[in-house]
Amino acid sequence: MPALLALLLWVGAPVWAQDVSVRLMACAACHGADGNSQLPGIPSLAGQPRVFIENQLVIIREGLREIPAMKGQLDGVSDAEITAMAVHFARLPARNTPPAGDPALMAQGKALAESMRCGTCHLPDYRGREQMPRLAGQREDYLLYSMLQFKNNQATGRDTIMAASLYGIADADLKALAHFLARAAP
Ligand code: HEC
Ligand code: HEC
Repeated sequence: MPALLALLLWVGAPVWAQDVSVRLMACAACHGADGNSQLPGIPSLAGQPRVFIENQLVIIREGLREIPAMKGQLDGVSDAEITAMAVHFARLPARNTPPAGDPALMAQGKALAESMRCGTCHLPDYRGREQMPRLAGQREDYLLYSMLQFKNNQATGRDTIMAASLYGIADADLKALAHFLARAAP
């Protein structure tokens, strides 16, 4: 390819053409090589909406959402790199494979998710959209952990809309919701 053409193509490259492969290796150690986390307490990122990941990475980088485990991970990471990483994870298929669910807990969680209208924001199949995260196929422990944080107003830096959505709910109901959503087909 002539050098000038190569240069023009490079200049015109979209932001997600940023090479973030080295940065992604660090993320893989915790979030899984394919974006599906195998570690307790660490969320899967595969199949999350791009906008959700972008937003979270910005607020984590700025220190608004404090994640001790991720301290330093986003130091000096540009907005363009954040977009590139978000595009990468959004494209990966979510494939959490939890053990078979308890039928009674599944039914309870499904009924709660429907009556509490979680799908109006997270979509009826809980795939998420825009700034609303995917819940289907997320790790059960992480779903429960994050909902308890919202409910107990400990979700510093996170959207208060979720605390409002879970206001007054019993912990046992949160367990059922997490059990069901982790097994909802992504
Ligand atoms: C040492 C482990 C570790 C590394 C390395 C790490 N993370 Fe995380 N990450 C976590 C933990 C733990 C959480 C959840 C913490 C919480 O909610 O309190 C998290 C949360 C997130 C979230 C929010 C997800 C959600 O569903 O709310 C995003 C996005 C994210 N990490 C992206 C990244 C990216 C991109 C990288 C690489 C640049 C990275 N992380 C590196 C441990 C890590
Ligand atoms: C009015 C819209 C809305 C409704 C209704 C709603 N959510 Fe959310 N939810 C959000 C938004 C927005 C976020 C992202 C919060 C943030 O940016 O920190 C979120 C985040 C979450 C998270 C954190 C996931 C993660 O990866 O960090 C969980 C779990 C969750 N919602 C579960 C539920 C459940 C269960 C219901 C129904 C009981 C529900 N939500 C109803 C808007 C909504």
